[in-house]
Amino acid sequence: MAGGFVSQTPGVRNYNYKLTPKVFVTCFIGAFGGLIFGYDLGISGGVTSMEPFLEEFFPDVYKKMKNAHENEYCRFDSELLTLFTSSLYVAALISSLFASTITRVFGRKWSMFLGGFTFFIGSAFNGFAQNIAMLLIGRILLGFGVGFANQSVPVYLSEMAPPNLRGAFNNGFQVAIIFGIVVATIINYFTAQMKGNIGWRISLGLACVPAVMIMIGALILPDTPNSLIERGYTEEAKQMLQSIRGTNEVDEEFQDLIDASEESKQVKHPWKNILLPRYRPQLIMTCFIPFFQQLTGINVITFYAPVLFQTLGFGSKASLLSAMVTGIIELLCTFVSVFTVDRFGRRVLFLQGGIQMLISQIAIGAMIGVKFGVAGTGNIGKSDANLIVALICIYVAGFAWSWGPLGWLVPSEISPLEIRSAAQAINVSVNMFFTFLVAQLFLTMLCHMKFGLFFFFAFFVVIMTIFIYMMLPETKNVPIEEMNRVWKAHWFWGKFIPDEAVNMGAAEMQQKSV
Ligand code: BGC
Repeated sequence: MAGGFVSQTPGVRNYNYKLTPKVFVTCFIGAFGGLIFGYDLGISGGVTSMEPFLEEFFPDVYKKMKNAHENEYCRFDSELLTLFTSSLYVAALISSLFASTITRVFGRKWSMFLGGFTFFIGSAFNGFAQNIAMLLIGRILLGFGVGFANQSVPVYLSEMAPPNLRGAFNNGFQVAIIFGIVVATIINYFTAQMKGNIGWRISLGLACVPAVMIMIGALILPDTPNSLIERGYTEEAKQMLQSIRGTNEVDEEFQDLIDASEESKQVKHPWKNILLPRYRPQLIMTCFIPFFQQLTGINVITFYAPVLFQTLGFGSKASLLSAMVTGIIELLCTFVSVFTVDRFGRRVLFLQGGIQMLISQIAIGAMIGVKFGVAGTGNIGKSDANLIVALICIYVAGFAWSWGPLGWLVPSEISPLEIRSAAQAINVSVNMFFTFLVAQLFLTMLCHMKFGLFFFFAFFVVIMTIFIYMMLPETKNVPIEEMNRVWKAHWFWGKFIPDEAVNMGAAEMQQKSV
């Protein structure tokens, strides 16, 4: 009875459009915003397993790592080390809240530009770091950059894309994230082999490259028709819509954008309004989707794959290599989502990916448990270690076509214009908060929960899969400004949506009351 809670997708419209080079190029450039996030996600894990880096900034961890008698589960447990990784996410959380105002008042592209700019400065601090303070200040600046970019880019892509292809276009953000991760792991693989401090400096400093790319990209990008209307540039908005849709016949879509904007003007305080009952589905989804995305446990792999592989007894070079392999698999599998999300829909991918992650997590936990036991001592044979890597790849593939891209797509497409920026800020900050928690707690959790950690995340995957099955209606092919119809038709959320939010736009309502 998948989808049984919704009769059929309401609100689907068939606006006129051609797939123009302009929309393709703008979304391609817009998606660069994901690169800075991805580069950072991918670089930290490798850098924190480089000996010269640990020796320079975290000598205690270095000593522990060298101690062959240390319990395998606890070799890397250090709060200061995890603070290095996770400080960025706290900064991103805070900046996404400011970014929501800039995105709404000045347009999406200026948030992207600011994101690139602060990330650039942060990369310089990190590349030239002389002490922990410089390292942490750099991380915080990088975090500001990520917050701005993640707040604005998914919304930008969802607004630019033709409704029938919104999923595919928006997934470009996740493709860019994973591309950033893979490039970072490859760079780490080479820099880890350099003698002295130069290796980690190159790894951290090269973050300036994606930063410059998004800065230049943001300067040349046009703003979305939705944002232009929101800021009063109605004529420009129409021309923009005509040029990205490749036709002059855009009246129906344009009218829907205008109606949505009229309605949104009645809302003066997006932050207060999002608490109103009629926005309950969006509020719940923008809190729970990012929460669940992080509770899949994906970032245990993203941040700590090299550390995890070393824990499994791989050498340091083999660990970085395995991390590279999982990254490449994630990249390839994200394309599965790009090509299917608008055909099969969001729900099918969420549910299938969830089940795949669940099975592989249980298998990984069981194998590590059998090999290392609770004591965390012992050795793992080559073939078993390879089997674990294969299971990790199956898990990562499941995430790559479900919670990875959809965790950014769905929150960016479900909110009406009047609360969209605020809702996306909530999405980013909840995501960053739990990214921070996982990053901060993982090594300690591994040390205490041991292989049970994998069962912990598996438990959440069960809950989130049930949540999607029951609570998330299908949103494929529904124009972003028509989404209320989907909520209205849902067995649970329907009662929160007033009739007038669906039947007519504000302009029509006004006409009626005259
Ligand atoms: C998530 C990140 C994750 C990345 C790569 C993104 O969608 O938000 O937390 O690290 O995918 O797996």
